[in-house]
Amino acid sequence: MKLKTILSILAVSVAAINAEADMADYNVVPLPLSVEVDGSQKPFVLGSDTKILTEKKLDREGDFLRSYISFLPKAGVKGTVELKTGLKSDNPEAYRITVTPKRITVEGASDAGVFYGVQTLRKSLPADITEAVMMPAGTVSDSPRFAYRGAHLDVVRHFFDADEVKTFIDMLALHNINKFHWHLTDDQGWRIEIKKYPRLTEVGSKRPGTLIGRYGAGTEIDSIPVEGFYTQDQIRDIIAYAAEHHIEIIPEIDLPSHMMAALASYSELGCTGGPYEVLCTWAGYKDVLCPGKDMTMEFIGDVLSEVMELFPSKFIHIGGDECPKDRWKECPDCQARIAELGIKATDEASAETQLQGYVTRYAADVARRHGKSVIGWDEILECEDIPQDAVVMSWRGIDGAVKGTVRGHRVIQTPNDYLYFDYYQSDNMDVEPLAIGGYVPVERVYSFEPFSEGMTDAQKQLVMGPQANLWTEYVPTFSHLQYMELPRMAALAEVQWTAPEKKNYHDFKCRMPRLIARYEREGYNYARHIFDTDVNFRPDREAGVLAMSASVYPGTTVRYTLDGKQPSVSSAAYSEPLRLDSDCVIAAAAFSPDGERGTVTTDTLRVSAPTFGDITLACEPYSPFAFGGADALVDGLVGGDNFRSGRWVGFLGDPCDATVTFRSPASVSRVSFKTCIVWPEGALEFRKAEVYGSADGNNFEHLATLDNSAQDPAQGNGAYLHEINFDTVTLKALRVVITPCEPSGIWKRILFVDEIQAQ
Ligand code: ACM
Ligand code: ZN
Repeated sequence: MKLKTILSILAVSVAAINAEADMADYNVVPLPLSVEVDGSQKPFVLGSDTKILTEKKLDREGDFLRSYISFLPKAGVKGTVELKTGLKSDNPEAYRITVTPKRITVEGASDAGVFYGVQTLRKSLPADITEAVMMPAGTVSDSPRFAYRGAHLDVVRHFFDADEVKTFIDMLALHNINKFHWHLTDDQGWRIEIKKYPRLTEVGSKRPGTLIGRYGAGTEIDSIPVEGFYTQDQIRDIIAYAAEHHIEIIPEIDLPSHMMAALASYSELGCTGGPYEVLCTWAGYKDVLCPGKDMTMEFIGDVLSEVMELFPSKFIHIGGDECPKDRWKECPDCQARIAELGIKATDEASAETQLQGYVTRYAADVARRHGKSVIGWDEILECEDIPQDAVVMSWRGIDGAVKGTVRGHRVIQTPNDYLYFDYYQSDNMDVEPLAIGGYVPVERVYSFEPFSEGMTDAQKQLVMGPQANLWTEYVPTFSHLQYMELPRMAALAEVQWTAPEKKNYHDFKCRMPRLIARYEREGYNYARHIFDTDVNFRPDREAGVLAMSASVYPGTTVRYTLDGKQPSVSSAAYSEPLRLDSDCVIAAAAFSPDGERGTVTTDTLRVSAPTFGDITLACEPYSPFAFGGADALVDGLVGGDNFRSGRWVGFLGDPCDATVTFRSPASVSRVSFKTCIVWPEGALEFRKAEVYGSADGNNFEHLATLDNSAQDPAQGNGAYLHEINFDTVTLKALRVVITPCEPSGIWKRILFVDEIQAQ
């Protein structure tokens, strides 16, 4: 379906629900705390000729508002928007908008509060504007849930110039995001001028090419040079630009690993002395800074100092992720440092892991001398002895946030499985541009709760807020960057800003057309998946059916087929949940009134003896990938190639040990299940599977074993079907125990299993 069509359908219908076509609606994204409309008063008429009055110090906010409404037709009637500070609130970013027929007052608890009030006015405008806009009389009272509302951007793997970075900042401002984590250095490039070390940019900012295709699938490098860096003057200009938008920039100098660009520039900083090259690919290196050499520690101090003098933020991010210790183990200087510091290996941390702790402490001391604190990726927790003021950025799921808060650290939540915007946003891999992997659709972003389950109040106090990260290995252009960010950034904004009790995904989607209209006005590229129908399934064990429901958005019709054919305008229209009890292929899509079709979702239902049975698991699934939990293994829906689609159930370290009681006894001679491999993200092959059967539902006997140990764990990605045959028996219940392979490497290894079947 063409987006314009959907947008106008949605915009008209949403407006029809809320008010009239040219009416503003203050229920914007992120949703404010309170919106009260007073229908007894006439609306305020807003046009490009509306007068804007501001306090002197709010000149910039006034200019922003003027520019946001400059495209409106003239109001033709007198009216004033007044911007002022002085709102009494505990939250410095709070604002209140009061609309009367002749006056709109935006009052902030600070300049920032006024700024967010102005953003809300801007976003309240209708999607289609043909006349001056009616602003309903009433009051909006608002303040954010979290003071830290972050977005990260990697400008190393691909470089974005100063103007593009400013546009990125504009995008953050539109979503009330107030922290920009700027990832400036990595193995593939050094992108910030450092006066004391000019070769960092002379040499380190350039690489001759980039890996072609997916990491792990090949080694060919293209011959398109990637280079660029920001001068300190450009950086000062960008910092000032961000500050006008009430955005603080937190620079990251990723150390002691991810330093190949620095090593290529100054080979004496490494353990072996090189030679080193700026990397054209994404991993597989062993070389990192050598903390055994005084010169390297001075380098760290000098670079961090120069960066901290440039950036006013009270934080500097020092990376700390993914640091292989191979070189340190062999380096005489590193080993001498370990001896000098009296470091002893413990059960929890090798001497080299603790040597990284020394680097973290050193950097934190430098930061403290500048009146600042460090932020580090969650690996910094691997060393017990890190400074209390170090902030932990949890990226490998939420574990770093949980552990960090237990140890009394402030934390920032950036879990990869919810907030990595370099991950795929659709499971339709055939049409998506190549991405690093994963699966983080808008709804998954929206569902993230920064206070992790089980956190005490004291731990919650230490959660500064959530942030989404965009690594740019597979993001070569700024337009592609926008495609990866939008509209996931809108979902992030509600995670960061909106009170949890007010969050509702369906409501969020109905509010999106106005924001999308702002994207269009600004010329931002964005992904369209949000307008597709969401198809949900729920197994009904009692009835032995799978209930299917689909979300229908205003102005669209969902049509479906059950024979695998692509739905067309003549396919059945969905009106109420379906109840499915036999093999079929379900395909569904939203259609506009003129017959344009959105993305088709397809699911396969296969019904056999265990389907809709009563299932228990001896070991809990791994919570981030539990999806539908045990029931997903016998809901009849068969997992495809995407291990994050919700069909699969993930197990971390534990076996998938499932016992299923059938709805009625059945004679069976074959059990099957699938596993899913997506290297290198964590999907793991299994070692063996054991099948047990029970005729009475209580006593089980061993039926067969499938030995899978010869299978190569690094075989190609995809879903694999495994079948185990045995002599026919009549069973009431079945137990399948699938034992994972031993994990290796730094990644968690997750065993993904789906759909236990028996015939
Ligand atoms: C990370 O994604 N390596 C922090
Ligand atoms: Zn060394």
